[in-house]
Amino acid sequence: MHTRQVRLEDFDALYAMWQTVCDQLYPFEEEKIRFEAMMQLHPDLCLLVEDAGRIVGSILGAFDGRNGSIHRLIVASDYQQKGLGKMLVLELEKLLKAKGVKKFTAQVHAQNTLVLPFYEKLGFSEMSYVRTLYKDI
Ligand SMILES: CC(C)(COP(=O)(O)OP(=O)(O)OC[C@H]1O[C@@H](n2cnc3c(N)ncnc32)[C@H](O)[C@@H]1OP(=O)(O)O)[C@@H](O)C(=O)NCCC(=O)NCCS
Repeated sequence: MHTRQVRLEDFDALYAMWQTVCDQLYPFEEEKIRFEAMMQLHPDLCLLVEDAGRIVGSILGAFDGRNGSIHRLIVASDYQQKGLGKMLVLELEKLLKAKGVKKFTAQVHAQNTLVLPFYEKLGFSEMSYVRTLYKDI
Protein backbone atom coordinates (compact mmCIF):
# COMPACT_ATOMS: atom_id res chain seq x y z
CA MET A 1 0.00 0.00 0.00
CA HIS A 2 1.39 3.42 -0.84
CA THR A 3 0.37 7.07 -1.01
CA ARG A 4 1.04 9.22 -4.05
CA GLN A 5 -0.10 12.38 -5.75
CA VAL A 6 -3.23 12.09 -7.83
CA ARG A 7 -2.79 12.32 -11.61
CA LEU A 8 -5.37 13.53 -14.14
CA GLU A 9 -5.71 10.05 -15.58
CA ASP A 10 -6.77 8.66 -12.17
CA PHE A 11 -10.18 10.31 -12.41
CA ASP A 12 -12.21 7.38 -13.80
CA ALA A 13 -10.90 4.98 -11.16
CA LEU A 14 -11.35 7.57 -8.40
CA TYR A 15 -14.94 8.27 -9.42
CA ALA A 16 -15.68 4.53 -9.52
CA MET A 17 -14.33 4.13 -5.97
CA TRP A 18 -16.13 7.24 -4.69
CA GLN A 19 -19.43 5.93 -6.07
CA THR A 20 -19.18 2.77 -3.99
CA VAL A 21 -18.92 4.82 -0.78
CA CYS A 22 -20.48 8.23 -1.25
CA ASP A 23 -23.97 9.08 -2.46
CA GLN A 24 -23.38 12.84 -2.55
CA LEU A 25 -21.29 13.04 -5.72
CA TYR A 26 -21.95 15.27 -8.69
CA PRO A 27 -22.69 13.42 -11.93
CA PHE A 28 -19.52 12.12 -13.63
CA GLU A 29 -18.94 15.01 -16.05
CA GLU A 30 -19.57 17.72 -13.44
CA GLU A 31 -17.34 16.00 -10.92
CA LYS A 32 -14.65 15.70 -13.59
CA ILE A 33 -14.71 19.43 -14.37
CA ARG A 34 -14.25 20.25 -10.67
CA PHE A 35 -11.53 17.62 -10.30
CA GLU A 36 -9.58 18.95 -13.29
CA ALA A 37 -9.86 22.51 -12.01
CA MET A 38 -8.48 21.47 -8.62
CA MET A 39 -5.67 19.56 -10.30
CA GLN A 40 -4.71 22.65 -12.27
CA LEU A 41 -4.43 24.72 -9.13
CA HIS A 42 -2.77 22.45 -6.58
CA PRO A 43 -2.03 18.93 -7.84
CA ASP A 44 0.46 18.57 -4.98
CA LEU A 45 -2.44 18.72 -2.49
CA CYS A 46 -4.39 15.86 -4.07
CA LEU A 47 -3.39 12.47 -2.73
CA LEU A 48 -4.51 8.89 -3.05
CA VAL A 49 -3.72 5.56 -1.48
CA GLU A 50 -3.22 2.58 -3.74
CA ASP A 51 -3.10 -1.08 -2.81
CA ALA A 52 -1.97 -3.56 -5.46
CA GLY A 53 -3.01 -1.13 -8.20
CA ARG A 54 -6.42 -0.42 -6.70
CA ILE A 55 -7.30 3.07 -5.42
CA VAL A 56 -8.57 2.67 -1.85
CA GLY A 57 -8.49 6.21 -0.50
CA SER A 58 -8.34 9.82 -1.62
CA ILE A 59 -8.20 13.38 -0.43
CA LEU A 60 -8.42 16.44 -2.68
CA GLY A 61 -6.90 19.42 -0.94
CA ALA A 62 -7.42 23.04 -1.90
CA PHE A 63 -5.82 26.32 -0.94
CA ASP A 64 -7.57 29.57 -1.82
CA GLY A 65 -4.73 31.83 -0.73
CA ARG A 66 -6.15 32.14 2.80
CA ASN A 67 -7.46 28.78 4.02
CA GLY A 68 -6.83 25.16 3.20
CA SER A 69 -9.73 22.77 2.71
CA ILE A 70 -10.59 19.12 2.27
CA HIS A 71 -12.65 17.66 -0.55
CA ARG A 72 -13.44 14.08 -1.46
CA LEU A 73 -11.88 12.49 1.58
CA ILE A 74 -13.14 9.03 0.82
CA VAL A 75 -11.82 5.63 1.90
CA ALA A 76 -13.12 2.40 0.30
CA SER A 77 -15.45 0.56 2.68
CA ASP A 78 -13.21 -2.46 3.13
CA TYR A 79 -10.25 -0.17 3.99
CA GLN A 80 -12.03 2.01 6.55
CA GLN A 81 -11.05 2.01 10.23
CA LYS A 82 -7.44 1.18 9.39
CA GLY A 83 -6.03 4.70 9.78
CA LEU A 84 -6.05 5.72 6.10
CA GLY A 85 -8.42 8.66 6.50
CA LYS A 86 -6.40 10.02 9.40
CA MET A 87 -3.13 9.56 7.52
CA LEU A 88 -4.50 11.44 4.45
CA VAL A 89 -5.76 14.36 6.54
CA LEU A 90 -2.48 14.63 8.46
CA GLU A 91 -0.47 14.42 5.24
CA LEU A 92 -2.53 17.22 3.69
CA GLU A 93 -2.20 19.24 6.89
CA LYS A 94 1.59 18.96 6.62
CA LEU A 95 1.55 20.12 2.98
CA LEU A 96 -0.70 23.08 3.83
CA LYS A 97 1.46 24.09 6.80
CA ALA A 98 4.44 24.16 4.46
CA LYS A 99 2.54 26.72 2.37
CA GLY A 100 1.99 28.86 5.47
CA VAL A 101 -1.69 27.98 5.84
CA LYS A 102 -3.09 28.61 9.32
CA LYS A 103 -6.73 27.53 9.00
CA PHE A 104 -7.77 24.14 7.71
CA THR A 105 -11.46 23.52 6.98
CA ALA A 106 -13.62 20.57 6.04
CA GLN A 107 -17.14 20.93 4.70
CA VAL A 108 -19.32 18.04 5.67
CA HIS A 109 -22.77 17.41 4.25
CA ALA A 110 -25.36 18.32 6.90
CA GLN A 111 -26.74 14.79 6.84
CA ASN A 112 -23.32 13.20 7.21
CA THR A 113 -23.23 13.29 11.01
CA LEU A 114 -21.35 9.98 11.13
CA VAL A 115 -18.15 11.65 9.99
CA LEU A 116 -18.12 14.41 12.65
CA PRO A 117 -16.45 12.29 15.37
CA PHE A 118 -13.71 11.41 12.88
CA TYR A 119 -12.89 15.08 12.32
CA GLU A 120 -13.19 15.90 16.02
CA LYS A 121 -10.60 13.23 16.79
CA LEU A 122 -8.27 15.02 14.39
CA GLY A 123 -8.70 18.33 16.21
CA PHE A 124 -11.38 19.94 14.03
CA SER A 125 -14.34 21.68 15.64
CA GLU A 126 -17.51 23.21 14.27
CA MET A 127 -17.33 26.95 13.63
CA SER A 128 -19.85 28.64 15.86
CA TYR A 129 -19.06 32.11 14.55
CA VAL A 130 -19.31 31.60 10.78
CA ARG A 131 -22.19 30.64 8.54
CA THR A 132 -21.48 29.49 5.01
CA LEU A 133 -23.85 31.02 2.46
CA TYR A 134 -23.92 30.04 -1.16
CA LYS A 135 -25.57 30.81 -4.48
CA ASP A 136 -25.69 28.59 -7.56
CA ILE A 137 -24.27 30.67 -10.43
C1 LIG B 1 -14.70 9.36 7.12
C2 LIG B 1 -13.63 8.43 6.55
C3 LIG B 1 -12.81 9.18 5.51
C4 LIG B 1 -12.74 7.96 7.70
O1 LIG B 1 -11.68 7.20 7.13
P1 LIG B 1 -11.07 5.93 7.88
O2 LIG B 1 -9.84 5.53 7.15
O3 LIG B 1 -12.11 4.91 8.06
O4 LIG B 1 -10.72 6.54 9.32
P2 LIG B 1 -9.45 6.18 10.22
O5 LIG B 1 -9.31 4.70 10.29
O6 LIG B 1 -8.27 6.94 9.77
O7 LIG B 1 -9.95 6.74 11.61
C5 LIG B 1 -9.21 7.68 12.39
C6 LIG B 1 -9.86 7.77 13.74
O8 LIG B 1 -11.23 8.22 13.61
C7 LIG B 1 -12.11 7.23 14.11
N1 LIG B 1 -13.26 7.17 13.22
C8 LIG B 1 -13.27 6.92 11.90
N2 LIG B 1 -14.53 6.97 11.42
C9 LIG B 1 -15.30 7.25 12.49
C10 LIG B 1 -16.70 7.42 12.67
N3 LIG B 1 -17.56 7.32 11.64
N4 LIG B 1 -17.17 7.69 13.91
C11 LIG B 1 -16.32 7.79 14.95
N5 LIG B 1 -14.97 7.65 14.85
C12 LIG B 1 -14.49 7.38 13.64
C13 LIG B 1 -11.34 5.92 14.09
O9 LIG B 1 -11.85 5.01 15.03
C14 LIG B 1 -9.95 6.41 14.43
O10 LIG B 1 -9.84 6.63 15.81
P3 LIG B 1 -8.46 6.36 16.61
O11 LIG B 1 -7.44 7.29 16.00
O12 LIG B 1 -8.80 6.67 18.01
O13 LIG B 1 -8.13 4.92 16.35
C15 LIG B 1 -14.30 7.19 5.91
O14 LIG B 1 -15.15 6.59 6.86
C16 LIG B 1 -15.11 7.48 4.67
O15 LIG B 1 -14.59 7.48 3.57
N6 LIG B 1 -16.40 7.73 4.84
C17 LIG B 1 -17.31 7.92 3.71
C18 LIG B 1 -17.07 9.21 2.95
C19 LIG B 1 -17.21 10.44 3.80
O16 LIG B 1 -18.17 10.57 4.55
N7 LIG B 1 -16.21 11.32 3.65
C20 LIG B 1 -16.16 12.58 4.33
C21 LIG B 1 -16.91 13.70 3.68
S1 LIG B 1 -17.02 13.63 1.89
